[in-house]
Order: sequence, then structure tokens, then C-alpha cells
Amino acid sequence: MSKAKERLGKLIWLCPPLMTALAVWIFTLLGFTVWTAVFMALLLVCPAIIIYGLVKIFRHRGGFSPETLHTRGMPLDILAPVYDRYCPIVGLGHAFRQATLRHAGLNPGESVLDVGCGTGVLTRLAAPAVGPTGYAIGIDPAAKMIEVAKKNALTEGSRAEFRLAVIEDLPFEDNRFDCVLSSAMLHHLPPEVKIKGLSEVRRVLKPGGRLVLVDVDRPTVPLWWILLWPLLFWSFTEDQVKGRLGVLMLRAGFSSSEKVGSWGGFLGFWKAFKGKSG
Ligand SMILES: C[S@@+](CC[C@H](N)C(=O)[O-])C[C@H]1O[C@@H](n2cnc3c(N)ncnc32)[C@H](O)[C@@H]1O
Repeated sequence: MSKAKERLGKLIWLCPPLMTALAVWIFTLLGFTVWTAVFMALLLVCPAIIIYGLVKIFRHRGGFSPETLHTRGMPLDILAPVYDRYCPIVGLGHAFRQATLRHAGLNPGESVLDVGCGTGVLTRLAAPAVGPTGYAIGIDPAAKMIEVAKKNALTEGSRAEFRLAVIEDLPFEDNRFDCVLSSAMLHHLPPEVKIKGLSEVRRVLKPGGRLVLVDVDRPTVPLWWILLWPLLFWSFTEDQVKGRLGVLMLRAGFSSSEKVGSWGGFLGFWKAFKGKSG
């Protein structure tokens, strides 16, 4: 990382007050009274600050399970107990999962891998789509996420399997899967791990296999920039909000990548293929 970027990183604490001030200014321009604008701005900015604070506290107090695998990415143990309730609240409910599966176009008999599966919602929906002759497995480094995923699968009688692993070192042989799903996980990785992880995904895909990825992307609704501009200064998200998801996939060796849809104005659905010659 360059010195200038490192120095900018140290100023990260300026983001919440600046974001709040900017949001207040925009809300007043939109015609709200100052106090309403302050209230609405805090409502928007506070949850982000609280989540950031909790992650920091839990990291220091050993809030991560001892079995959680080492990665330079961000495992999400902290949210495991509430994750399934939290997702629909932030717009990642059933319709979002169905849209992801539509882009994947899974067929009976196919094998599918869900990288960074979290509590395994998507993996469990993929399992019936590939049927009894197919195979669906989810991996995640967060031990608490995998624990919840396995428990949910057992309760639902799902055939989906779950395993502790990291995207940058996938425990599968070459050319194993027809399709890999990556849902809201890429922004949990620093830039060099993204490329390593995507290269691993390409390795385990069969020739002609597909990656279906949905993640933070360049906002298509300009209003999102009010909240998302700080992500330009965070190495985990910088490339993504600049709209370089497709380039990352090509750099990891995929033969093509294409944006196939968007969600909520700031998530992009992408599809990338491994060349037929492997
Ligand atoms: C926001 S959650 C998304 C979970 C799920 N895919 C979904 O759509 O709900 C991101 C997940 O990426 C996982 N993760 C973090 N670092 C990872 C890595 N190096 N390899 C694989 N997954 C990782 C986190 O533990 C977390 O469960």
C-alpha cells in the first residue's frame, strides 16, 4: 500500500462525522428542517458505526470462535446468531436469493460451490435446484457461521453440505464444479486475496463452468454515493465501487465476465466463465 493511502487510512475516523454532516446538508437541501435532517442522518450513519465498533471489540475480546480459520479476509462470526434475521431487514431476503439463483440457472445433476456461504441460505436453496443427482456445498472460514449453516440444514432436511475453508485455498480438486456462487462475500477480502480467491474459484470450475457473483458494485442510483463514498478509501471495496469487478475476474484468469443485473442500486450481479479449454 502506498504511503499516501496509509496516511488516508489513518483518517478513517473522520468518515462518520463527515458523512453525517454531508447527509444533514443534503437532507436540508431536500427541504427537511435541520433537526429532522440531523435525526435522519444519524439514523443512516449510526448503524454503520455501531457494527464497526462491535467488530473491533469482538476482534480484541476473542469474539471469534477458536476454530475460525486464519484469513486476511473478514470472517463474520459476530453476526452468525442474528444473520438470518438481519439479511431480509437490509433487503437481502428471499427475492434476492431467488434472483441470484435465476442468474445461476442451475440444472439437475450439477455440482455447485457457494464460497463465503455464511449461514448457508443460498447453498440450501441451490441444493434442490441441482437435485438428488447433484451436489451443493458451502464453505466459510467463520466457525460460527458454519455451525449455524449445518444446524439449519439438519432442521430443514437439506442435502447441502458445509465445510470450514477459505476462498484463497479451496480444498477441492481442479475442474470439480459446474457453478460457483459468491454472494456478498468479495468485499470481505483485501485486493490481493480477491485475485487469489477468484483464481482458486477458476481452478475448481470445470472447463466452461460459471461463476455467479453478486457484490458491492458501482452505484447505479446516484443517491447511494452519499453513503458509499467512504468505501472508495477502503482497499477492500475501492475496486468494487469504482466498477472494476469484471476486470478483477478477467485478471484472475476467467475468459469472460459480464454484468447481468443489479440489486438495490449498489449490488451488481456478475457472471464469469472459465474457458472451454480449461
Ligand atoms: C456478508 S457474508 C455473506 C454470506 C452469504 N454468502 C450470504 O449471501 O448471505 C460474507 C461471508 O464471507 C465470509 N468470508 C470472509 N473471509 C472469507 C474468506 N477468506 N473465504 C471465504 N469466505 C470468507 C464471512 O465469514 C462471511 O460469512
